[in-house]
Amino acid sequence: MAMMRTGKERVISFRDSFHGKTTGSQAVGGKVSGKNWMPIGMSNHVLNLAFPNKSELRTKSDSEIESFFNSHFEGLEKDISCVITEPYQGFSADFMETRYAKHLRRWCTDNKILLIVDEIQSGFGRTGKLFAYEHWDIRPDIVVCGKAISSSLPVSCVLMDFDTPDKSFNSTHGSNPVGLAASKASLEYLLDNNLIEESRNKGDIMKAFIEEWKRDYPKNIKKINCTGLLCGFYIEKEGNSKEENIQLVNDIIEEALRRGVLSVYTNSGTIKIGCPLTIPVDALLEGLQVLKESFEACIDIQG
Ligand SMILES: Cc1ncc(COP(=O)(O)O)c(C=O)c1O
Repeated sequence: MAMMRTGKERVISFRDSFHGKTTGSQAVGGKVSGKNWMPIGMSNHVLNLAFPNKSELRTKSDSEIESFFNSHFEGLEKDISCVITEPYQGFSADFMETRYAKHLRRWCTDNKILLIVDEIQSGFGRTGKLFAYEHWDIRPDIVVCGKAISSSLPVSCVLMDFDTPDKSFNSTHGSNPVGLAASKASLEYLLDNNLIEESRNKGDIMKAFIEEWKRDYPKNIKKINCTGLLCGFYIEKEGNSKEENIQLVNDIIEEALRRGVLSVYTNSGTIKIGCPLTIPVDALLEGLQVLKESFEACIDIQG
């Protein structure tokens, strides 16, 4: 759609981004290993830039952020139809730095390039706002939604405030009435029951728990990224190697599963928690306690 609207062919996305597994979305994504199966040249129109992690850039000055942004984008205007990004990148469990996002918005506007935000994981209250891009205080041109839009049924949608460039943007199950009814009910429930505010409040409780946990284990837990009910924390090998401890994370996730708590298997040094927005506070604390005890059991074994 961006290509048709702008008449330009190239796409910018970020390293380690994930936008899905269909040919088009996998080509746009930033995981090189995910593209091994593709015929050569299939993703030649895509340029992956390093993701500007908030946790690494938050201490930089405004002028450092500006130069960093310029080092990425200067001279790239030609042929670019759109920039697509996740506000919260699932693989790195980190947010795009806010000032970088504002530069990006301005650059896209100045160069008539569409800014697409993938809210499939971060949307619908998960980060304490309806959409995670609201943390940046900007407005994207296109927002891509899925997952929590219906809270169950397979529904996705593309939001934009212009008409599709071509009337043939349709599909067999497009506007499926059951999917739409589920999505409407889900959104109403979210808003009527103040779940976005709850996401912020319970997120603060979760963050406080994990920060205390980090204080107890400074050699293992190095970094925490929590916004709303979405938390990622990084576990490294002891010592100064700064190497992520993938084995320990896998062991913790399996141990927690044995003890009745399901978390995401990330195959990285990150433990990611994204519990339901409706979770009662006592269940949240109980789950976190189980995760912490699983962690303690696993570091005892690893020595
Ligand atoms: C940010 C993001 N974009 C796109 C997708 C793909 O969504 P689906 O699996 O519904 O195609 C996912 C799924 O995990 C995602 O997290």
